Amino acid sequence: MNQPDDTALISAALTARSLAYTPYSHFNVGAAVLTASGRIFSGGNIENASYPMTLCAERVALVSAYAAGERTIQALAVVTPTLDVASPCGACRQVIFELAPHARIILLNLNGAVRYTTPAELLPHGFGPTQLTEGEGSAS
Ligand code: THU
Repeated sequence: MNQPDDTALISAALTARSLAYTPYSHFNVGAAVLTASGRIFSGGNIENASYPMTLCAERVALVSAYAAGERTIQALAVVTPTLDVASPCGACRQVIFELAPHARIILLNLNGAVRYTTPAELLPHGFGPTQLTEGEGSAS
């Protein structure tokens, strides 16, 4: 089966990585998303002196797309400077589950390692919008 050409998406993630703001960790991550309208949005991690306020690259890229009105994310590429490919953190998995539930996820390092995964594989049994509508106190 032919794989989609992710060259432009990966290239955008690499550029975003070079623009990350990481004065504390110096661990630059880049992410890029492809939307259904064919646009690419990207972001690097943006750190903060109050460390927990740091935004991971995945969330910066996803929120950037949503802020522009995009609602369907087809693919998400993440580049980390790790020996093997790294996986998104727990917070990002929750955000991916909400904002890009059907996206192809492409995890890469700088040495050509790549792993393909899915939101459901990253966050099995994830909490999502359907639970809210089933819950006590939900609007009927
Ligand atoms: N980070 C990301 O941006 N994405 C990941 O998938 C893992 C971690 C960032 C957060 C922080 O700025 C730095 O990497 C070290 O944890």
